[in-house]
Amino acid sequence: MNQMARDIVAKLTLEQKAALCLGGDFWHTAAVKGDGEAGGVEPVTLSDGPHGLRRQTGTFFDPTEPATCFPTASCLAASWDPDLIRETGAALGVEARAQDVAVVLGPGVNIKRSPLCGRNFEYFAEDPVLAGRLAAAMVEGIQSQHVGACLKHFAANNQETDRMRVSADVDDRTLREIYLPAFEHVVTSSGPWAIMTSYNCLNGRYTSQNEWLLTQLLRDEWGFSGMVVSDWGAVHDRVAALQAGTDLEMPPNHGISDKAIIGAVQSGVVAEAVLDESAARVVDLVLRSRDRQPASQDTDAHHALARRVAAESMVLLKNENAVLPLAAEPLTIAVVGERYPAFQGGGSSQVNPVTTDDPVAELAAALPSATFTDDPGSADVIVAFLGFEQGTESEGRDRTDIDLPEEQTELLAQLSGRAPIVAVLCTGSVVRTSTWGIYARAIVHAGLAGEAAGGAIADVLTGKVNPSGKLAETIPLRLRDCPSYLNFPGEESHVRYAEGVFVGYRGFDASGLEVAYPFGHGLSYTTFGYTDLAANGRTISCTVTNTGDRPGAEVVQLYIGDPVSRVHRPPRELKGFAKVRLDPGASERVTFQLTDRDLSYWSTTFARWVLEPGEFSVEIGSSSRDIRLTTTINIDAPMPRPTLTPMSTVREWLEDHAGRDRLTAMIKQITGEDPIDFDALADFIGDFPLSTLAPMQIPGITPAVLATLEAPTPATPATPA
Ligand code: BGC
Repeated sequence: MNQMARDIVAKLTLEQKAALCLGGDFWHTAAVKGDGEAGGVEPVTLSDGPHGLRRQTGTFFDPTEPATCFPTASCLAASWDPDLIRETGAALGVEARAQDVAVVLGPGVNIKRSPLCGRNFEYFAEDPVLAGRLAAAMVEGIQSQHVGACLKHFAANNQETDRMRVSADVDDRTLREIYLPAFEHVVTSSGPWAIMTSYNCLNGRYTSQNEWLLTQLLRDEWGFSGMVVSDWGAVHDRVAALQAGTDLEMPPNHGISDKAIIGAVQSGVVAEAVLDESAARVVDLVLRSRDRQPASQDTDAHHALARRVAAESMVLLKNENAVLPLAAEPLTIAVVGERYPAFQGGGSSQVNPVTTDDPVAELAAALPSATFTDDPGSADVIVAFLGFEQGTESEGRDRTDIDLPEEQTELLAQLSGRAPIVAVLCTGSVVRTSTWGIYARAIVHAGLAGEAAGGAIADVLTGKVNPSGKLAETIPLRLRDCPSYLNFPGEESHVRYAEGVFVGYRGFDASGLEVAYPFGHGLSYTTFGYTDLAANGRTISCTVTNTGDRPGAEVVQLYIGDPVSRVHRPPRELKGFAKVRLDPGASERVTFQLTDRDLSYWSTTFARWVLEPGEFSVEIGSSSRDIRLTTTINIDAPMPRPTLTPMSTVREWLEDHAGRDRLTAMIKQITGEDPIDFDALADFIGDFPLSTLAPMQIPGITPAVLATLEAPTPATPATPA
């Protein structure tokens, strides 16, 4: 933190410091009037986020200032392209400069636990590595403009149902491996200026009032030095929130919180230093934003960027008989379904777009010799725009199924057998394809692709852009196949994350379930070959070649698995990816570097990351279920062992060399007898703690032996991860 922030706060009154820890109004931090040496602190503007600005200058119900509506995060994620997302973030930053916004309230990096979550369109992926790397790029882009990014919603906010009260009940391993790493990666690699707490409780405690989450983990472990802001209305007890680490409460609540803070400091419940630190973090953010320069909003350039980004993010799910790209011949094209498909979701992220593309006009411009009709009977090809009405996918409510509107699937059934159908899916979250996919020759998952969706769809359908998007979430055959199905959205204000780490493809793979389209899937108009996998220690490399006849881009995916482990691990987990652009015939060598952490799991026994020795699988795929190259690597690390006590089981004592030696030595020394053959009995009594064997008169397990073993036997050291 800038020392100047602390110096300013040191000169403020208690009331002024309390005021700084609350918004000045709905969208601004509080102002402190300049007084002599202390200098004033001007208010700064915070504005949604995450895929375009939603700057509110009028009342809550007035339209917000026009801004470029970029593709939503779920769409962007399918690009698997951090560079492109960084560029999008920088454009968002420029718009923030143009609109005098200091902090963009985004990106949102929550994991897609269930396809039903109403805000999935605002989030990146079902995988934490993918979500974290893409969100970090977004933060870097925004902050390259001296505009702050505000990472949200911290943490375990994976549903909208009962979102203001529900407790996400998540075990430590699942939190550490699935729900926290994306936040951790962004915090530790790209230093967001701010992080927003979520509305929900985590294991029974509101996240805005959760000291473990906001202070021990976020600040002490991850080293976060920015400002923690509550989600709008997420604070229920301002004093508890301040103590836990929430610096700024938004929006302000009519003097109630100021009074509570002042009272708590005056009565000694809260040390004034705690308030000083939070106030200084708010001031620090204001000081940082003083570097922001005004800019003009180049709406044409940003519209062109939105179109390019959207086209790069579209996923070609299926393309039978190469029906796509559409030929530049005098085709008759029937357009059916949603004439103006949705391009963004509803709620606080909803942007008032500068302009919007008309998909049919864009197609017509790209195919000047084609004729367009709404009568499928005369057509050479049918383009069906599928999805929900604008606003159906929204913050504030979860979906109850993953089906398209019935009239759309019925229409596809009626039209099948006529001209080939090209289905264009314009949804922000997963929809089931298994009930209608058979009718479509080609399916393009366009996503909620922003204001330039129309142009981008035309680019992909006509082949101007060769699709290279890959799914950032699995499309299941049925909702009930999803790992979270039985525990979503919970009941009586609790949702149990009972599927544990088996979220998304981790769960589908572990259960061996068929899916409609797997995580990481996406076709191209060209083809790619994979060769020459090499594993040199933890450096993994392979060669990718464009084996088709058009330039194209491929996302090379690296998965690892640890089939033999103390804990149940997913068959494969994404640990790296690279997007390579290749001309026909060209090759590129792709290299990945695995770290200890990539190979470790979070152990609740040891309360830390644990790397186990042994053989790990290494897979290189074009998707999580299109694995092209495999090998194994051997990890040489000591087997982690718990500290042994009489409550450790016979098996634990026997598995640890030092423990086994000590046990046998103690029995001999104290009883003068040879120990019984524990190995021979291990199947039967292996899970008994030693101390429970004493009353059973097992030879050698006497109270005197147990008392000696009370002094913990140091565990064989485990490798620090
Ligand atoms: C949302 C946040 C948003 C905030 C301000 C809340 O309802 O959960 O994502 O940034 O409102 O609009």
